[in-house]
Amino acid sequence: MSEDQDTPTTDHDYDGIREFDNPLPTWWLVTFFATIIFAFHYWIHYEFGGGMDQKAELSQDMAQIQQLQHNHPASLDTEEDLQKLAGSAEIISRGHDLFGAKCAVCHGPELQGVIGPNLTDEYWIHGQGRLTDIALIIRSGVPDKGMPNWESQLQNEEIRALTVFVASRKGSHPVNPKAPQGEKIAN
Ligand code: HEC
Repeated sequence: MSEDQDTPTTDHDYDGIREFDNPLPTWWLVTFFATIIFAFHYWIHYEFGGGMDQKAELSQDMAQIQQLQHNHPASLDTEEDLQKLAGSAEIISRGHDLFGAKCAVCHGPELQGVIGPNLTDEYWIHGQGRLTDIALIIRSGVPDKGMPNWESQLQNEEIRALTVFVASRKGSHPVNPKAPQGEKIAN
């Protein structure tokens, strides 16, 4: 008697072909039950547990992105972002008011330079005079040299307005300008 004949068979018999009654492999059973358990939890979670569908997840992520964009530091604005604001007379005038209140004491009401450098000439100590350079220096300041750090004191909107205002006065040739400081930037 061969080993096969010892193996229990089911009583299925198809044209003399009999079916072994082998147990299913453990790995198969484990996987099978795992899928059932998973499906059960999945169903409970999404049908009754308030699990978010893709649409809800998307709108949550979008809201988060908008929040970040709203709060994101002025120094993360691109040159193009700031250039868009530079065309607005309203923003420039807001910058003008802020400059008078916060900056004129050191840079002069006409930006001609007093303790701080002249901001209307072609010379820059920090950066290349791009909008992003100006925004960055306003934010971080140069505490060692007497330029305060404004990021903790001003809103991003205010830093943006100051940036475009300062840039708008480039080449305005105020009277009694302070002697140039820094590197001449040809642009
Ligand atoms: C207490 C004096 C003081 C105040 C107030 C001040 N600054 Fe300054 N600022 C300075 C000094 C000093 C420097 C030069 C720093 C250096 O030598 O590195 C400077 C540098 C700068 C520069 C870089 C200039 C360059 O050549 O690279 C910009 C831009 C600037 N300030 C903008 C502002 C703005 C905008 C405000 C108002 C929010 C402001 N500053 C307020 C003293 C001041």
